[in-house]
Amino acid sequence: MYEKLFEPVTINGMQVKNRLVFEPMGNYYAELDGNASERDAAFYAERGRGGCGLVITEICSVNARHGRGDARNLLLDSDDKIPSFRRMVDAVHETGAKFALEIYHPGCQGVPALCEDGMLVSPSGQESKLLRAPTRALSAEEVEGVVEDFVSAGVRSWESGFDAVELHCAHGYLLCQFLSPYTNHRDDEFGGTPERNAEVVRRIIRGIRERTAPDFPILVRLTADEYLREVGIDDGITLPLAIEYCRMFESWGADAIDVSAGNYETMNWAWEPVGFDEGWKSANGKAIARELGIPVIACSVVRHPETAMDLVEGGVSMVGSARQFFADPDWGNKVRDGHADRIRPCISCMRCIESLMAAHEDPYTPMVCSVNPEAGRECELAAIERDGEGRRAVVVGAGPAGLEAARVLALRGFETTLVERGGAWAASWSSRSARLRSGAWAGSSTTTATSWATWASG
Ligand SMILES: Cc1cc2nc3c(=O)[nH]c(=O)nc-3n(C[C@H](O)[C@H](O)[C@H](O)COP(=O)(O)O)c2cc1C
Repeated sequence: MYEKLFEPVTINGMQVKNRLVFEPMGNYYAELDGNASERDAAFYAERGRGGCGLVITEICSVNARHGRGDARNLLLDSDDKIPSFRRMVDAVHETGAKFALEIYHPGCQGVPALCEDGMLVSPSGQESKLLRAPTRALSAEEVEGVVEDFVSAGVRSWESGFDAVELHCAHGYLLCQFLSPYTNHRDDEFGGTPERNAEVVRRIIRGIRERTAPDFPILVRLTADEYLREVGIDDGITLPLAIEYCRMFESWGADAIDVSAGNYETMNWAWEPVGFDEGWKSANGKAIARELGIPVIACSVVRHPETAMDLVEGGVSMVGSARQFFADPDWGNKVRDGHADRIRPCISCMRCIESLMAAHEDPYTPMVCSVNPEAGRECELAAIERDGEGRRAVVVGAGPAGLEAARVLALRGFETTLVERGGAWAASWSSRSARLRSGAWAGSSTTTATSWATWASG
């Protein structure tokens, strides 16, 4: 039924086992100096193990001068960091997934305290209306320096063993600021026409290509639409301009386009809260796919396989999600093995982004998920030890915490009973059977707990 999602895809010689992509998700699990951590390695490996054919890292800064988005995002600005990145790559490769590094510069969407002179940078000195942080325009010479930083980081990604590199040209970060007529008001070789706005991207693609291998895939993540009209601004990137850019990127040697949307001023259109429908922006990915000869990856609040199938049937080569595979890293394996009913859906509650923002205050705060307590804590929690040995456990209260406690106890091999006052439900599990008693608190009518146990073991 969903076989098409599990067909292999080739991106400039990189053979990906299926069409599922774990999209970049800033997690801020890196070491304070930007090295990849053990936590990073375990986090990405879990997404590969669960069935994503291609895993892409979070934002990885290309310089520390003015290029960091957080004190704990990845940073690949020197060769001495390569060993930690290589360890992370090895961990993901063990799962059979391909692994790409997303290289980025925040521009006016950074953290001034992490910049050399306390000022953010952008093409024309325009501040982000969200951050309202002091921002200055880059000189042409500085732009050339930033191009070199991107190229060097791309080369280091190749030397670290990544299968591909992705240029972050989306979400209102520096490269997106160059592409967008809303933020690029320059009148030099880096602004003034679509070609000149895209010149930095052309130079980065060319530089990485010249200094790596002809078959090292270069992906470009692009905002297909900034949706600025939704906040009363008649400017910015819209789909026709995005298509024009994609054609340029393809002609300059980009090997795939990863389609996203929005910027910080239109954040709801980038990582959508619960009010957005599944699949609402699929038309963007499909429209870009129709225009190009290279593979297109697209995300569109994908939570269920039907939405993923709709994208693929509409011509998109690969389907991406960040939050769904954060909430349930086993999504791919469940769908492949006919257990789509066991998917633990992301509820778009924004807890991930909220906890990520808290990391700006306290760099030791991890990004967490409301429905998956293992997310980001794979090192400690992903391997469940079977040490229950049939001992009895009773969990009182079938709210989210009680359900999760009962699920884990059952997986650990405890004879587990879950009781709930409201609605008078009681469920019990053993390692061999899952039974649900409905009716009274310890009522007599019993039924096999297929849906209940399925939900709780999702
Ligand atoms: C907490 C969080 C962090 C994100 N970090 C990144 C990032 O580092 N790089 C990037 O390109 N996109 C990032 N995104 C955007 C996602 O890749 C994705 O495009 C967006 O969440 C919409 O897709 P989804 O509904 O499948 O999550 C992030 C999104 C969230 C919610």
